[in-house]
Amino acid sequence: MRSQAVERISVGPVPGVSKPTMRDLVSTRDLSPAEVRSVLDLAAVVKARPSDFRRTLDGKQLVMFFEKPSLRTRLTFEAGMASLGGTAFFMDQTGGRIDARESLPDIAHNVERWVDVIVLRTFAHSTVEGMAAHASIPVINALSDLEHPCQALADYSVLQERFGNLKNVTLAYVGDGNNVAHSLLLTGAMLGSHVRVATPPGYQPNAEIFAAAQEIAQETGATVEAMTDPREAVSGADAVYTDAWASMGQENEADARIPIFQPYQVNEKLMAKAAPHAVFMHCLPAHRGQEATDAVMDSPQSVVFDQAEGRLHVQKAILMLLLWGGASRFPVRSAHV
Ligand code: CP
Ligand code: NVA
Repeated sequence: MRSQAVERISVGPVPGVSKPTMRDLVSTRDLSPAEVRSVLDLAAVVKARPSDFRRTLDGKQLVMFFEKPSLRTRLTFEAGMASLGGTAFFMDQTGGRIDARESLPDIAHNVERWVDVIVLRTFAHSTVEGMAAHASIPVINALSDLEHPCQALADYSVLQERFGNLKNVTLAYVGDGNNVAHSLLLTGAMLGSHVRVATPPGYQPNAEIFAAAQEIAQETGATVEAMTDPREAVSGADAVYTDAWASMGQENEADARIPIFQPYQVNEKLMAKAAPHAVFMHCLPAHRGQEATDAVMDSPQSVVFDQAEGRLHVQKAILMLLLWGGASRFPVRSAHV
């Protein structure tokens, strides 16, 4: 027998909800704090009972345009759509920018006639914004130089599963103030959680993103802090997170960055400064021996593959929320069945 929660989730549009509240996911800032919580809660239901959702996106079609390589993001969108009854197509744009052959508005106005949702992985964040501005169908950011919203939502789903109340969780991000750091700051702020980011001087998070996270934090009771001392960030933290010292597109800086970032390596000595129950997190791909040692990556504290799994459940939740007409349609308490 299908549970009451699934019955409620699988009905048609809710009366009175004519315009979806969750339109695109270009930035975490496209979501309200309640929508962020809905994504995590729906993802928990999807994880617990995947077979209840097999026909949810029957006939829906997704297209991915990726300017950068991907393992996790591409496969979790493909597997996620298939397991919801939909179909995913992949357009390899790694040989050139998406709009090198044709203007972005022209691409948007073609694609919106054929499929239901567009997923973009780009260098310029403005490419994702531009597609969202022109396409009449939802657009999802699958990583830009500025943000990686699906990743941070998956990361916080892992933390919610592990620790429960995220308002009591402190995540210490150590390394480059990059797209993943930005999305962790924004998502943690939305969830009323606590985020410390330690970077070398000159590699701090984007000032505008950090200010936005601070503003959200004021509303939600979260705290966001930026510092340069990795030990201070990690001290007593519940989660220690790191990412590549040189992101995709920065390969020519990789060697020069090694000595700058070496003091930010997450090794057993640094992990020992976190809370005894702390988890180690990495979005992957990892550069073992650089930002994290094998001993930490392979330790019982490591949840890196839980994060990778979480990408699937969270993206399924995002797709349902976008394609069904808004997070307001989903009863948050249904997740706890
Ligand atoms: N974490 C992540 O986005 O992985 P991919 O680059 O493999 O998609
Ligand atoms: N910061 C990394 C994340 C990879 C998933 C990059 O942009 O390459």
